[in-house]
Parts: sequence; C-alpha cells; structure tokens
Amino acid sequence: MKRLFINIKELLQVREANILKVSGKDMKVLPSLKNAFLLVEGDTIAAYGTMGSADTKNADEVIDATGKTILPTWCDSHTHLVYAGNREQEFVDRINGLTYEEIANKGGGILNSAKTLQQTLEEELYEQSRKRLENVMKLGTGAIEIKSGYGLTAEAEIKMLNIIKKLKENYPATIKSTFLGAHAVPENYKNNKDGYVQKVIDEILPEVGKSKLADYIDVFCEKGYFSVADMEAILEAAKTHGLTPKVHVNQFNAIGGIQAAVKHRALTVDHLEVMPDEDIEALKNTGTMPVGLPLCSYFLSIPYAPGRKLIEAGLPFVLATDYNPGSSPSGNMNQVVAAACIKMKLTPAEAINAATINGAHAMGVSRTHGSITKGKKANIILTKEIPSYGFLPYDFGNNNIDKVMINGEFVS
Ligand code: NIG
Ligand code: FE
Repeated sequence: MKRLFINIKELLQVREANILKVSGKDMKVLPSLKNAFLLVEGDTIAAYGTMGSADTKNADEVIDATGKTILPTWCDSHTHLVYAGNREQEFVDRINGLTYEEIANKGGGILNSAKTLQQTLEEELYEQSRKRLENVMKLGTGAIEIKSGYGLTAEAEIKMLNIIKKLKENYPATIKSTFLGAHAVPENYKNNKDGYVQKVIDEILPEVGKSKLADYIDVFCEKGYFSVADMEAILEAAKTHGLTPKVHVNQFNAIGGIQAAVKHRALTVDHLEVMPDEDIEALKNTGTMPVGLPLCSYFLSIPYAPGRKLIEAGLPFVLATDYNPGSSPSGNMNQVVAAACIKMKLTPAEAINAATINGAHAMGVSRTHGSITKGKKANIILTKEIPSYGFLPYDFGNNNIDKVMINGEFVS
C-alpha cells in the first residue's frame, strides 16, 4: 500500500473517531494541529502529528506543503445535481420582476426541468451530471447527496436514480441518493394532487424500494406543493422500504413540516428560510439536524435560514449547496461557507464545522468522512498559502484550493 507523507503549516478539523457531529457552542471550536504531518496509506488517513515526530523513512512519497493548510473535503448533504439543461431564461424573468412562485405557477420551475429531463436520453443526462460532479470534486467536495425529483413519473424518477447509481460506481466521491418523487405535482395531475401522492406511494416508491436505488426519502413540504399530511403519508410509506427522511421544509412558509419531520425521525430538515421560534424549539433534543442553504437565498433573494439563532439554540447546524437549476445553479461549497459567514453571521470555525463533520452526519457518513481522524477516508483539501483558515471565507470568490484528494487520490 502506498504511503504518502504531507508536511503542512496547519491541519484543521482534527477529531477523535467518536465525534460524529458538533452542536451549539462546540461549533465555535475547530481543533487543529500546527506544523503538522499527515500520513495517508492507500485511501485512508493512517496517522498525523507534529512535524518533529514524523518518521518518513518508509514513505513512498513526501509532499512538502509546509506553507499550506489541510482540511477535510466538504460534505455537501443536499443537492439536485442530476438535471437536464438549465433555467437561464427564468433567471432573466426574475431579474425582470417575476417571482419564483409566479414562474412556477405558469408552468416554469420544477415542472420546466421535469419536462426537459423526461425528454433527455439517459446517456446525455449522465454526461451533463458527471461534468457537474467532476467540477464540484475539484472545488473540494468529497461526499455528496443527490436527489431525484425532476422525473415525476416512475420511469423518469428511476432514470435519475440509475444515473446517481452510475455516478456512485464511477467516481471516488461518496454519494448518497434520495428519492424525491414528491417534488412538484406534475402537469397531468394538476387538479388531482391526491392522485399523484397515491401514485408516489403505491407505484413509484415500491419500485424505488425494490431496486434499492435510494438511501433517503424527501418531500417538498410547501404551500402549492405538498401538505404536511401528504408528507406524513409518504414518509410513513417509505418506512417499509427502510428510507430515512431528509425533507424540504420552511422555504417560503412555515406550515408545521418541522414538527411532522421530527415525529418521523427525519435525519435533516432543509431550507428553513422561514423559521418561527416554535419551529426552532421543536428541533431541540431530537436527532433531526437543521440544514441551511445560503446559495438558494442568495440566488432567489429570499431570507437566509437563521443559522446564528439555530446554533445559539444548541443545535448541530449543517450547510449545503442545494445545487439545482432553479434556486442554486452552483455546487460550490466554498461559496456556501463564505455566504454563511457573511449573511448568517457564522464564524469561519462554525461554518467549516457545518460544512464538514455536520454535513457528513447529515448524510450518514460521519464515521468515514468530515474530519481528519485516523481510519477515516483520506479526503483532504490542500489549500494554497493562506494566513489562517478564516481567510477562506474572507477571500470569498477566489479559489484558495491547491489540490483535492479523495480516497487517497488527487483529483485536482
Ligand atoms: O431545494 N424547493 C424545492 N426544490 C429545489 C428547487 C427546485 C427548482 O427550482 O428546480 C430547492 O430549492
Ligand atoms: Fe433542494
């Protein structure tokens, strides 16, 4: 097995194996080692320590990165990276005054992407999707969750999930897949939403369950999309297939989705742009993690999830991109971390915790990802020469990544 030593100025997010997420005040701390070395054996972190204690005798390769910093790769726990085409026209429509809601109401939005996806051949859809994945890996993402939800028919949803499966097989990034059949009511069910919910439960979900193509279940719980009762019925049905909920709630309206998600033991509740105090309260002392998606707020000019308040409430806040063609056409976790500092008032340490160890936990991979820990996957970002880690979000929009390693191999 190849042994690689890297000497660095600072090793960030160094944690014991029993730390699987961090909450509240603990998020302020980003444990680090200065003047350190990291030993990678094959695809695994084998050891680390202070530089003086490094024994490089048996190394196959030594990288001298003494001015540089290492942190674990980003864990992006919420994306819709498999999609067809783009929604550039809607972007311009919004600039010209239409709202996201108005665009959706006239057949744009998710239904627009569903139409394009249904007409796109699987090979072509794979091509478009793998380019996005390769791009975000180069931007430092080592683990990622990808949702279906632009199919909205059994056939097209399975087509999306199959592409996620192929990406899992062909790329070193760790990928989790989520079935989001209830993302929008398809055109042909416009006046029969209940009929579509029943179809998801009776027809699409059993097929997804049988094929073992999904790790999680998601529903867009929102006025004009799916009600709390719809979501509960789908989550209940998904239980028989062993699918844990990770749900879209409180993007535009607080309608009780959080309380229902907690009741169904959701791993995460995502979006949270509209967050009354009782909804924050409902998350306390539960296993359900709040996920903020600041690039969606930025792109749509809507409120930001109250990240500061959620952390002050003692919760394990998570950050993700929401990479999708309508509300966040960027999968850049570096931008997410910067936006969280600038707009949600997180400290750089809090934002990095939210985007690494907590992101890993938010997709069930924190035993292997999210920190520099002996035995975890050798997933690292090697930065350019930066004065300290706070410079990463401060110097927003600039690329401070020198190299990215995923499973022991450099991908950039
Ligand atoms: O998470 N809100 C629901 N779904 C996506 C956006 C979907 C779209 O506009 O295509 C989101 O923001
Ligand atoms: Fe989303």
